[in-house]
Amino acid sequence: MPKAVVYRQYGVPAETVELVETPAVQPGPGQVLVQNILAPINPADLNTLEGKYPVRPELPATPGVEGVGTVAAVGFDVTSLKPGMAVLLPHGYGTWREGGIVDANKLFPVPEGVPYAEAAMIKINPATAWRMLHDFVEPKPGAWVIQNAANSGVGRAVIAIAKRLGMHTVNLVRRPELIDELTAAGADVVILDDENANAEIKVRTGGAKILLGLNSVGGESATRVASALAAGGKMATFGAMSRQPLKLPTGLLIFKDIQALGFWMTRWYQKATDEERNAMFAELFEMAKSGAFKTPIERIYPVDEIREAITHALKGSRGGKILIGNP
Ligand SMILES: NC(=O)c1ccc[n+]([C@@H]2O[C@H](COP(=O)([O-])OP(=O)(O)OC[C@H]3O[C@@H](n4cnc5c(N)ncnc54)[C@H](OP(=O)(O)O)[C@@H]3O)[C@@H](O)[C@H]2O)c1
Repeated sequence: MPKAVVYRQYGVPAETVELVETPAVQPGPGQVLVQNILAPINPADLNTLEGKYPVRPELPATPGVEGVGTVAAVGFDVTSLKPGMAVLLPHGYGTWREGGIVDANKLFPVPEGVPYAEAAMIKINPATAWRMLHDFVEPKPGAWVIQNAANSGVGRAVIAIAKRLGMHTVNLVRRPELIDELTAAGADVVILDDENANAEIKVRTGGAKILLGLNSVGGESATRVASALAAGGKMATFGAMSRQPLKLPTGLLIFKDIQALGFWMTRWYQKATDEERNAMFAELFEMAKSGAFKTPIERIYPVDEIREAITHALKGSRGGKILIGNP
């Protein structure tokens, strides 16, 4: 009987989850039995468990919005998928489980050669990085982008995608040991996210005109990102890791015409056509296959150790993502 993580009320993430056994069933018409391989613990999953995310699933629910699995069996009329194929797990399924039944039309096949770990994490962070680099300003070769929390999953994908687009990145981090690591990963400029950052950015970029800023931290760090932008620049906020509100000096808006915008991947998925999704995934899978994404993983926990996994994922200064599964 496959096990699944379940929560029945919102609360402290590691305390509110429990493990249940789910019935072993065979797929009906239009359905697929999936065996899960890997699913990440993302910050939004933890916010959802706390009841602090705008999406509040009907309870009881199984957490996890993305992951990768393999097809174990298909309903008699399913011809598009075959046992053994790797697939991206859909929104709403709850990916923190060992396996389950999914509608065939909700599964997205993963091309051969894409590492499972990258496939498991592709739908949220690299997709967010891809969209933000394309949808706010034209991604011209030679253009600069600045971001904070540059060692995060999104941040590393921004570095990889910007490189592919011929763009340059300024990367703010809060730990000095990340400077060499991100430089080796292709970052152009890596700077400590402190009060000296803005002066250093000018020197290290030769005063380059930066028109795009990506903020997932908030507070003083967001102020530094916005202050580094040239007149007419856009700052896209997509996270609030410090849990501090944005602090934007009024002059940036009035005299430099800086625009403060928001980005939510869920909103993009809700509005995107199949064609737009397929086009983005084709590019992201190609990058994953070529080894362009190397998302560090700190540890993979079996689903039985979900509480330890969540406690670990909530820690700062991690060396990489925490995943659930059996690769
Ligand atoms: N809007 C969207 O659609 C969307 C999509 C994807 C992600 N996100 C958001 O993007 C953010 C990053 O997600 P991720 O999965 O890439 O993260 P991740 O890989 O888990 O990394 C977390 C990052 O946050 C930093 N951090 C943690 N606590 C912090 C604090 N108190 N102050 C400043 N920095 C802090 C970490 O720095 P250290 O390593 O130094 O601890 C690390 O760089 C999250 O807020 C997530 O919700 C939003």
